[in-house]
Formats: sequence, C-alpha cells, structure tokens
Amino acid sequence: MTSPRTVLVFRNNNEMAGFMVRRWVEISQQAIGQRRYFAVALSGGRTPVGFYRKLADTGKLRWDRTHIFLVDERFVPFSHQDSNYGMLRSVLLSRINIPQENIHPVVTEEPSPESSAQRYEDALKEFFALSVNRFPQFDLIVLGIGEDGHTASLFPGSELLKEKYHLAGAALLDEVRHHRITLTLPVINRSRNVFFLVSGKNKAGVFRRVIEDRDSSLPAVLVAPKEGPVTFLADEEASDLLTVRRKKESK
Ligand code: 6PG
Repeated sequence: MTSPRTVLVFRNNNEMAGFMVRRWVEISQQAIGQRRYFAVALSGGRTPVGFYRKLADTGKLRWDRTHIFLVDERFVPFSHQDSNYGMLRSVLLSRINIPQENIHPVVTEEPSPESSAQRYEDALKEFFALSVNRFPQFDLIVLGIGEDGHTASLFPGSELLKEKYHLAGAALLDEVRHHRITLTLPVINRSRNVFFLVSGKNKAGVFRRVIEDRDSSLPAVLVAPKEGPVTFLADEEASDLLTVRRKKESK
C-alpha cells in the first residue's frame, strides 16, 4: 500500500509558505484537541526559512503545547553558521513564546556523531514514552529535497536507508557537508503528516525524478508514510519540468 501523494504548485516560495502555515494551524489544533500536544520535526536548508519566519509572525499558536524536534542536524556547535538549530533559533524560536523544555534540538556536544545520534534517540524515546522496539509518531514532519535527491540527512546509497530499528542515525559525510545526525525512515514513515517544501529551478530535475519517475534510488522517494498523506509543495520554478499540469494553488 502506498500512501496518497499530492503535489501542489505555488507561484513562489512566499505563497507556499503561507499555505504551510495554514496547514500547521489545522494540524496542530487537531493534535492538541486529540492528544493535548503537537509534536513536529523541522528540517534545515534554505527553502523553509520563509515559512518559519511566517510562523513566528502568526498569532494565537499554542506554543505552550507545541514540541519542536529537528529532522536532522549537522555535527557542529549551535553557534556554527551551518547549524540547523542555530538557523531555527534565529528565524523562529527566538521570536516566539515557547517554553525551553518544548524545544528538542540534536545535542552535538558529544564526542562523535554516533553518540550524538544515540543521545537524540534516547531523548525521543523518553519524550514519547516508548517501550522497546516502538517508534514515535510525529503529528507533522517537514522535509526538503536536495539536488541529489536526499531528504533529511538520508543521502543516495547510504547504509542508513536500510535502518529498521534505530530512530536516529549518524550520516558520515565530508568536510563541506559536515557529518550529520538524522531521523531514520521508520520514524519519518510513521508520521501522521509529511510535507515536502521544494523551491527553485535547481530542483526542477530532481523534482521530476521524484514525482514522475519515482526513482527509488532517491531517498525522497522512499518517504511513504504508512498512515498519513505525503504532500509536496513546490513553487513554479521547481515544478517547471513536470509533464503533467498540476493544479496551481492561489493565496
Ligand atoms: C538540511 C536538510 C536537508 C534539506 C535539503 C534541501 O538540514 O539541509 O534537512 O535535507 O532539506 O538539503 O535544502 P534546501 O532547502 O536548502 O534546498
């Protein structure tokens, strides 16, 4: 059974961000109504920055009942310019009234990416009160797609793509991209909602391979949640090479 996949095209990143804020409002209200809290995992990268800024400007969100996790992180200090937590702090977290204990960064003050991943996994198990061999269920996971088809820090050909038991893992990369810590596919694929945000003409080629070719060598294609829908939000530039005309969303 494959999960339903929806592609929505927007004129630009700003309209895409506005739509994502509205979905956040709906999904968080439903989660808080049903389970008293809303658990979300957010990605780094440039594409979602406009969305995070808009979220910070949105009034009446229940930040006291929102728990923010990271989809992935570079193995660098929070003060490093490539830290996802550092980016989130400057565009979102420092601008909202959220209790510190509701923020769940990947702690990188560890001797190795592997121990950092283990620490993150332990934190997830504790927050979600998981018994052995159980996986957490996020209400929402927001992902991006790299030009090589990676998502989170799951890169093409990585051994991590075969992970079946761990919630978090270490991706050992090069000096430029940094070693990273990432949620694994079993966690992503249990989320109640998954949204991809894809923007810019440099993504047009890979976006077509993900949406139309469904090229399974691309990690983004392996995101297929068991229960919830997966929705791709893209701007016109990123959708330029799709052969099927997609419905355009208006503001
Ligand atoms: C990160 C990610 C990564 C990202 C893609 C797309 O921390 O960089 O989580 O998977 O979403 O590389 O990045 P852009 O949005 O910058 O294109």
